[in-house]
Amino acid sequence: MDLTHRPRRLRRDGIRSLVSEVDLSASDLIAPVFVDATTDERRPIESMPGHERVPVDEAVTRVEEIRETGVEAVVVFGIPDAKDDQGTRAWADDGVVQRAVRAITAETDAYVITDVCLCEYTDHGHCGLLEDTAAEEPELTVRNDETLDLLGKIATSHAEAGAEMVAPSGMMDGMVGAIREALDADGFTDVPIMSYAAKYESAFYGPFRDAADGAPAFGDRRHYQMDPANAREAMREVALDVEQGADVLMVKPALPYLDVVSAIREEYDHPVAAYNVSGEYAMLHAAAEKGWLDLEAAAYESLLSIKRAGADLILTYFAEDVADRL
Ligand code: PBG
Repeated sequence: MDLTHRPRRLRRDGIRSLVSEVDLSASDLIAPVFVDATTDERRPIESMPGHERVPVDEAVTRVEEIRETGVEAVVVFGIPDAKDDQGTRAWADDGVVQRAVRAITAETDAYVITDVCLCEYTDHGHCGLLEDTAAEEPELTVRNDETLDLLGKIATSHAEAGAEMVAPSGMMDGMVGAIREALDADGFTDVPIMSYAAKYESAFYGPFRDAADGAPAFGDRRHYQMDPANAREAMREVALDVEQGADVLMVKPALPYLDVVSAIREEYDHPVAAYNVSGEYAMLHAAAEKGWLDLEAAAYESLLSIKRAGADLILTYFAEDVADRL
């Protein structure tokens, strides 16, 4: 054969890594941590093998374990001691995230990000204040503007506890602006906001809702999370968040939405984050358990693909395992 172009020339060992277009490094990864105020021992999360809910006392130890793998950043989720219709434990000074963050920032060098949302703290499990009749008429859903004040309070209480970055995940309209304003008013002008800018109403959150005990008691989240059919809408969501001062733009979930990651990458100069969610983790584990795929290779390939699509940061339950091998 008289072939001029032979792409295989560049695939041999030795040259292969020299021409690779993206790389994965531990400093790209953010590990989720679940701190549980209802327990005094570490509890495995069944649907997320290798992950646990840890009591506040163990939060520092948990973060140190993560740091040992080379991962430098964590995102903290809380399971509160009590829930009510407003989610008041979400902004309590002695709340689970506030206590954990105080300890983690005092005793480790981890970069601490907090999830700012109400769904783990409300007894109805929705991400904001509900209309009074919502239980009978679930389509009436969450009161957007009243919820914004609460998100501002949660964010400042996290910053007061020492959180270095806040990540609002509730998909309320105007949440980034409201949080920016609240943070600035309290002097936290240097705390950046990583917005869950394009967060889809996804079936891939299943295991997380067990882990964080945040499943809605009735109805679903279609009234505030995005329709998986929509990519152009994601660009509008992102534009609004940029306008309101978002510092980092997140897409969630990651693998089913790589087109969205790459569209945002093309259009914006902001750092782009992707959340490789609980279901993306659980499905690889389940398949590997059956011997149907190689877990390490599949996890690495997933994260590499997310970077190739254009993400700079990846929130992932694989952070420790992958970082350990890099
Ligand atoms: C809401 C929140 C959720 C996740 C992160 N923040 C759950 C939801 O919207 O139902 C999901 C993360 C995952 O599945 O790993 N506070």
